[in-house]
Amino acid sequence: MAPQGDCSLELDPRDIVIQREISRSEASTVFEVRICGKTRVMKLFHDNGDPGYSRRGRDLNRFRCELNAYHNLLKFGVCDSGFVPFFHGFIDRLDPADFNPQLNHFRKDRFLPRAIILEYFPVAEKLNCVNYSDDLFRYAVKGISKIHGALIHHHDIYPKNILVVSGSRTVWIDFDVAMTFTDLGVREKAYCEYEVELVKSFGKLLKNDQLQGLPPNTSYY
Ligand SMILES: Nc1ncnc2c1ncn2[C@@H]1O[C@H](COP(=O)(O)OP(=O)(O)O)[C@@H](O)[C@H]1O
Ligand SMILES: [Mg+2]
Repeated sequence: MAPQGDCSLELDPRDIVIQREISRSEASTVFEVRICGKTRVMKLFHDNGDPGYSRRGRDLNRFRCELNAYHNLLKFGVCDSGFVPFFHGFIDRLDPADFNPQLNHFRKDRFLPRAIILEYFPVAEKLNCVNYSDDLFRYAVKGISKIHGALIHHHDIYPKNILVVSGSRTVWIDFDVAMTFTDLGVREKAYCEYEVELVKSFGKLLKNDQLQGLPPNTSYY
């Protein structure tokens, strides 16, 4: 199942085995899947019509945002550096009827769903004040800078979108509201600096909560 030049995957439904649902939101569902025998994450997006762009030009289509971001993350080597999951391609359309009952919540949508296929981390937990460490946090700050280097604003800067992988490194996930640019102008650079400050500020809060011995998710960052 080698991806095409645009990273689209030509798959037969029989190539995809859904193992379990990991997480669900209104916009998408994240699954652990096996594709041609390899374990992957499939983030499958509902499609009830393209919401298009905001008046200020912001893309409101979550699938397109995530896809554009991963194209750049791959192109700029961020996937290879391990600061984000490896991007294995996308599936243009899947028929939920082929995956009964796991995709039944997609069957009433106006259009067939589309999917992003990513590296799966079996031992991963969201960053919180219990697993926090200064070393891990430095990793997260470096990660967001690498993402900016790929001309992307993440736009969903929360500890829940940082996975601690095997307890030893952090990986940024969830680019479905990210903005991908063709180049970084003064305004874009300023926003990157703002995002780095946001990351650093919740780092301090997590550290503080850890010092107080609080359990995870007591505070909202
Ligand atoms: N590559 C991955 N490996 C393992 N688990 C993942 C991976 N990507 C996402 N997840 C799990 O799925 C959850 C939701 O993913 P995310 O992309 O943040 O979706 P949402 O847009 O619904 O927030 C994450 O919090 C994490 O638990
Ligand atoms: Mg998320």
